[in-house]
Amino acid sequence: MDIFKALINLLLCLLAIVLSLLSPVAEAQQQPTYLFHSCPNTTTFSRNSTYQANRDALLSSLSSNGSRGDGFYNTTSGRGSDSMYGLFLCRGDLSTNVCQACVTFAAGDIPQRCPVEITAVIWYDECLLRYSNQSIFSSVAEAPAIVLANTQNITGQDRFNQILQATMDDTATEAANASAGAKKFAIRQEEANFSSFRTLYTLAQCTPDLSSTDCDRCLQFAMGNLPIGVQGGRLLSPSCNVRYEIYPFYNQTAVPPPPPATPPPPAPASGGNGRRTWPIIVAIVAPIVVSILFLFLACWLLRRRASKKDDLVQAESAGYDITTVDSLQYDFTTIETATDNFSDANKIGEGGFGEVYKGILPNKQEIAVKRLSRGSGQGAEEFKNEVILVAKLQHRNLVRLLGFCLEGEEKILIYEYVPNKSLDYFLFDPAKQEQLDWSRRYKLIGGIARGILYLHEDSRLRIIHRDLKASNVLLDGDMNPKISDFGMARIFGVDQTQGTTRRVVGTYGYMSPEYAMHGQFSVKSDVYSFGVLVLEIISGQKNSSFYETDGAQDLISYAWKLWKDGRPLELLNPVLRDNYSRNEVIRCIQIGLLCVQEDLTERPTMATVVLTLNSYSVTLSMPKEPAFVFHSRSSEGRMPYKGLESDKSTSQSAPWSINDVSITELDPR
Ligand SMILES: *[C@@H]1O[C@H](CO)[C@@H](O)[C@H](O)[C@H]1NC(C)=O
Ligand SMILES: *[C@@H]1O[C@H](CO)[C@@H](O)[C@H](O)[C@H]1NC(C)=O
Ligand SMILES: *[C@@H]1O[C@H](CO)[C@@H](O)[C@H](O)[C@H]1NC(C)=O
Ligand SMILES: *[C@@H]1O[C@H](CO)[C@@H](O)[C@H](O)[C@H]1NC(C)=O
Ligand SMILES: *[C@@H]1O[C@H](CO)[C@@H](O)[C@H](O)[C@H]1NC(C)=O
Ligand SMILES: *[C@@H]1O[C@H](CO)[C@@H](O)[C@H](O)[C@H]1NC(C)=O
Ligand SMILES: *[C@@H]1O[C@H](CO)[C@@H](O)[C@H](O)[C@H]1NC(C)=O
Ligand SMILES: *[C@@H]1O[C@H](CO)[C@@H](O)[C@H](O)[C@H]1NC(C)=O
Ligand SMILES: *[C@@H]1O[C@H](CO)[C@@H](O)[C@H](O)[C@H]1NC(C)=O
Repeated sequence: MDIFKALINLLLCLLAIVLSLLSPVAEAQQQPTYLFHSCPNTTTFSRNSTYQANRDALLSSLSSNGSRGDGFYNTTSGRGSDSMYGLFLCRGDLSTNVCQACVTFAAGDIPQRCPVEITAVIWYDECLLRYSNQSIFSSVAEAPAIVLANTQNITGQDRFNQILQATMDDTATEAANASAGAKKFAIRQEEANFSSFRTLYTLAQCTPDLSSTDCDRCLQFAMGNLPIGVQGGRLLSPSCNVRYEIYPFYNQTAVPPPPPATPPPPAPASGGNGRRTWPIIVAIVAPIVVSILFLFLACWLLRRRASKKDDLVQAESAGYDITTVDSLQYDFTTIETATDNFSDANKIGEGGFGEVYKGILPNKQEIAVKRLSRGSGQGAEEFKNEVILVAKLQHRNLVRLLGFCLEGEEKILIYEYVPNKSLDYFLFDPAKQEQLDWSRRYKLIGGIARGILYLHEDSRLRIIHRDLKASNVLLDGDMNPKISDFGMARIFGVDQTQGTTRRVVGTYGYMSPEYAMHGQFSVKSDVYSFGVLVLEIISGQKNSSFYETDGAQDLISYAWKLWKDGRPLELLNPVLRDNYSRNEVIRCIQIGLLCVQEDLTERPTMATVVLTLNSYSVTLSMPKEPAFVFHSRSSEGRMPYKGLESDKSTSQSAPWSINDVSITELDPR
């Protein structure tokens, strides 16, 4: 660090001298800071082809429109099969001048880096530019995703990570929620009490052609891949990017509200004492001089780091480790060492698909290792492909699949390690239930719903979980829910997105009637399981081993009976006493009952559920009697039977006024 400071001082002196010589040209435009580019050489065009002509026309059109469109512009060039589609996106806080300069630079830069590739994307600090022969407008592209980590240690990691997660979430929500046509861009500055650093700066941005849902999906993926435990991190993907640092890397006064901005002060890659003096110096020193300084810094840092990097793909950005998100395959010996040879001491569970072990990788990362039982019937190549697809599903309410390991007959999945066990461990244990107060339970319901929504609606893979249950909801250190075991049907090679299967993989008590009896599954069978889970979370009782109360044989009938009698609050777990929001509880019960309707069309989609949980102005329909109930004193083997007089219930009107449940205000808590 001393060397570092000395070097900075030296450079500053140098700067002062250079500055005095150069000040008249201070207005000269700064070259954008290159970060990364990607252009797979698997699809190329031949030189002097129509493709090339169209690509070049596209670039010139983008570049001549660089100061238009609020930092975003999309265009096409050519007709028919040789068309090229292109767009650029500038960082939301930059002025049109800076944006224009970056786009112009990119349009000249990219043909040199990607002379004949048909698809390309290039990132700078200031902008990204992208083109392809396929339409790329209004659709999410998460790959290729590049992770950059400012690898200096951060002290007070736990607290830092907490603040980071909360702040990043807010930033992402704000960016995704921007109204149509506006920039999907947000920044935050969080004054926080962690170690010696006092402020966290975050940024989230999507291309504004995405819908809010798509933007949110992309940002969730991006946040899921952000490096943590370091001082700064970014994720770049074609459709969105997120970044955090402990120094201001954007023009704070430029947003919000978002007026045009002058060039932002680029900041040093190191935090510490330099933090306060930097912005002042930068404000004085001309941008061109800053870029010289950066060149020096970059060289120095690169030299310092080059020796100890192996997964580094390209590094022209000071102080950053750059990795692509693709090294999913782990070595068998690594996993053996991590789990101490799959020792019993490290065994943390046994699921339907195999045994689960805790492990620690050489870089100290904790992992959960699922050793799949033999004979999945899936070839190695297919297995690999499916894992890669499923690993791309990243959401903070899903347990992250980090990779896999293949060795002979062994097939192993590697997950992030989630410390707090699973939901059933807390929910159904009278001694631990108390840790789940109402606001926690409400957050659990919301988080689980968002996780399932992501599985269902992700455009590339529609995943039906098929085995949602309390023991498949893991809890992280802050009791955030993370759904596990998704995509298993795919990985085992038995997936269709909708259809009939002989192999029922669910758990009795959570399975929808049509799935349990006919093997028919769809997103609506997951909705059913979610409904059961919601009622369990509210009542603290297991549907499959329900204690007979009030003449009801199972939790669902019991919940329905209370609802019908106008006393839904009695369903609540007694440990909650009076600490709950009546409106929230009633709404959740209503959602739960709607989700377990026999008629698939009467069950809401997860999108509706999430919307309903977020917005109090959405009015829900009234549930009817859930016609199927599970008679499952013993949780295995028995088939569900049809409830009595199911037709009678269908025309039944609400036992109490609809106004009672269309809630418009939040209860103060
Ligand atoms: C594509 O790139 C890879 C790695 O850079 C190289 O090995 C390969 O030869 C290239 N293929 C073509 C067709 O240029
Ligand atoms: C492409 O066109 C240029 C100028 O028209 C010519 O000099 C060059 O040889 C051509 N290249 C190929 C591969 O045809
Ligand atoms: C800007 O974009 C428009 C629409 O794509 C295009 O017609 C125009 O040529 C572009 N501007 C320039 C100067 O090329
Ligand atoms: C830009 O993208 C929108 C969709 O987001 C599309 O409707 C429009 O045609 C595109 N503009 C051009 C010039 O291709
Ligand atoms: C894009 O180019 C590739 C390679 O030439 C081709 O296989 C693909 O069909 C093209 N896509 C479209 C939409 O034209
Ligand atoms: C970062 O922290 C880890 C553990 O706290 C320590 O082993 C490592 O040496 C530290 N690295 C630096 C560069 O300070
Ligand atoms: C989303 O934006 C609308 C108005 O644009 C605002 O009323 C609402 O509170 C925002 N929601 C969130 C979660 O920020
Ligand atoms: C900040 O943290 C320190 C200990 O880390 C504590 O003593 C101090 O009271 C905290 N300040 C605030 C405002 O929370
Ligand atoms: C930031 O943006 C504001 C508003 O556009 C501008 O007045 C200010 O000079 C900018 N600050 C810096 C340091 O670029």
